[in-house]
Amino acid sequence: MPPTLLDPIRQRYACRRFAADHAISPDELALLLEAGRLAPSAFGLEPWRFVAVDTAQREAVARACYDQPAVTSAAALVAIVALGTVLDPDSDYVRARFEAEARGGDTAPVYEAYRAIYRADSIAAWAQGQCHFAAAHMLLQAAHMGLDSCPIGGFDADALTTALALPAGETPALLIALGHCGDPAPERLRKPLD
Ligand SMILES: Cc1cc2nc3c(=O)[nH]c(=O)nc-3n(C[C@H](O)[C@H](O)[C@H](O)COP(=O)(O)O)c2cc1C
Repeated sequence: MPPTLLDPIRQRYACRRFAADHAISPDELALLLEAGRLAPSAFGLEPWRFVAVDTAQREAVARACYDQPAVTSAAALVAIVALGTVLDPDSDYVRARFEAEARGGDTAPVYEAYRAIYRADSIAAWAQGQCHFAAAHMLLQAAHMGLDSCPIGGFDADALTTALALPAGETPALLIALGHCGDPAPERLRKPLD
């Protein structure tokens, strides 16, 4: 049997209510963020920022997520924020990423390809899609460490932007609620492979 990641994939489920008194340690948080950092992204642009929600932000963040129990009861919350305006092909951010990706080689081909797909009016949605790869890495790393989680996409984007004090041009893509689940794991419901 070749090595697989199926154990954490099978263990992970969306926890809707976390048990109290289970903190996430700084070391655990650092591993989750590292898993997100190593996620793939189109053009290697890493169009994200990870925000560990602090205590002062918790209440407003929960309200922006309609006070979903998974959010109000979580031991920790990580917001994955999509970059926007810095993804303009002429930005310093894009130049730095493309130079790094080219590893000393010619950046002209990647610029040409990126300019062909870049649309200012849809770049935020494009970046949010990339953010979901980072989220998946974090969710599986959490399961691998014995932590429970819930991806939270149900939020008022404007309210969450304000709660996280995001600068202009950044939009929230997903929130990850973390902790130890207060309920037993439910049966996984999936369509059959065929
Ligand atoms: C992008 C995304 C957004 C989600 N948003 C929410 C949410 O706001 N609230 C919630 O309780 N679950 C949310 N979920 C969890 C899904 O409902 C859950 O993954 C799905 O029902 C399958 O269940 P499982 O993850 O336990 O296998 C979200 C999942 C994803 C991938």
